[in-house]
Amino acid sequence: MMSDIRACIFDLDGVVVDTAKYHYLAWKRLASELGFEFHIEDNERLKGISRLESLNILLEIGGLSLNIQEKERFAKLKNDWYLDYINKMKSDEILPGVKEFIEELKNDGIKIGLGSASKNAVFILNQLGIIHLFETIVDGNRVSKAKPDPEIFLLAAKDLKVEPSQSIVFEDAEAGVEAAIRGGFKCVGIGEQAILHKANVVLPNFKGMTMTKFLNMIN
Ligand code: BG6
Ligand code: MG
Repeated sequence: MMSDIRACIFDLDGVVVDTAKYHYLAWKRLASELGFEFHIEDNERLKGISRLESLNILLEIGGLSLNIQEKERFAKLKNDWYLDYINKMKSDEILPGVKEFIEELKNDGIKIGLGSASKNAVFILNQLGIIHLFETIVDGNRVSKAKPDPEIFLLAAKDLKVEPSQSIVFEDAEAGVEAAIRGGFKCVGIGEQAILHKANVVLPNFKGMTMTKFLNMIN
């Protein structure tokens, strides 16, 4: 699998940085403000998809319907709370092993891209001091179709001048794995096999990951 690989495209939230917990806390606070409970079991449905789509699912869970102005107001409120967490984030919240792994891939001449639904991606990468690792950044500000549509990853591959079949996508969300597979990419799921079973390979995390170990796992 790796011999013809020219690029690796990383999702951000839950793959490079531990922000998934902050998204969850901010949505939970919004649900409570709106008068209902939001449980961790339902959080998986919100991973990988856009802010507004996440809000729609949250409202469906709470049995509420709002007009677009109200939705925009609540999406902004959630994002303000989320940014309060993100502003305090330090580089120790980069997920273990991922930075070193990306550096090793780069040294080996593999192109590196970011493919994230988040509109806060550039801010987060700057905050963590790792923006220089990425040759291209495709985020929620650059696409009109959210995961599971492959648009994000296809744009990243185009920027990196590689074919999807020559690229590996790293994803922690079901919608993201689906997007990668639909786009013709190889996909490594980061998390649980039961959730990410459509990926070619699933790893629990990047702890202690090296190129050699990775090659052994995927070939
Ligand atoms: C994805 C997250 O990376 O970005 C989703 O997995 C989130 O949970 C989405 O809703 C949009 O992020 P943001 O930062 O633009 O609200
Ligand atoms: Mg993610």
